[in-house]
Amino acid sequence: MSSPVVELRGLTRSFEQGGVRIDVLRGVDLAIMPGEIVALLGPSGSGKSTMLQAVGLLEGGFGGEISIAGQAAEKSDAHARTALRRDHLGFVYQFHHLLPDFDATENVVLPQLVAGKPKAEAEARARELLTALGLGHRLDHRPSQLSGGEQQRVAVARGLANRPKLVLADEPTGNLDEVTSDKVLGQFLELVRGEGSAALIATHNERLAARMDRVVRLHDGHLE
Ligand SMILES: Nc1ncnc2c1ncn2[C@@H]1O[C@H](COP(=O)(O)OP(=O)(O)O)[C@@H](O)[C@H]1O
Ligand SMILES: [Mg+2]
Repeated sequence: MSSPVVELRGLTRSFEQGGVRIDVLRGVDLAIMPGEIVALLGPSGSGKSTMLQAVGLLEGGFGGEISIAGQAAEKSDAHARTALRRDHLGFVYQFHHLLPDFDATENVVLPQLVAGKPKAEAEARARELLTALGLGHRLDHRPSQLSGGEQQRVAVARGLANRPKLVLADEPTGNLDEVTSDKVLGQFLELVRGEGSAALIATHNERLAARMDRVVRLHDGHLE
């Protein structure tokens, strides 16, 4: 029996807005098994990004339990959380956040160097991923020389570069037109499946969500 790559128990998060407290997450429970691709659906403002930030161990202020690869993150110190993030998680955002002065290959190489991989190996991995995403002819182009869909595919390659057990994606194709969005999401899912990573992908698009293994919906601070 394998164990979940991520397990959330009673996850809560509240914010103060103009002196009023709003409870965005009111006790979210979720377990994702290795290799499982889960769509996180919910309208704008339902708390999808907040939930992904919690799972990504990027911010504090959460209640409840988050375990990543069997380790309780809420009981870990900042150093251990950084290690959990680096060793197990990959991120893809709605806006690519690529480094403008680096080309596509370099943007995918960098996080691997940070993780301690030798340069030649990191470059080979970057080329492999970018080529699998149909960017073999764009390896040394900078972000400004790429279309929106191409930029987002570079961001996908970067998110997968360190072979994360779990990829967290926040509306990864949310700023692309419908046709490009469908294409990039299809390539993203195919690559994640091929790599055997699990993924939690926030979207407000039912049609895109239907292409994933399982759909969970955020409603009134709970998953249904
Ligand atoms: N840093 C913050 N401070 C105050 N309110 C926040 C903050 N981050 C998110 N919120 C509020 O939490 C709710 C959920 O936001 P978010 O997680 O971004 O939703 P979604 O990603 O589903 O659109 C919104 O009402 C938003 O205004
Ligand atoms: Mg959001």
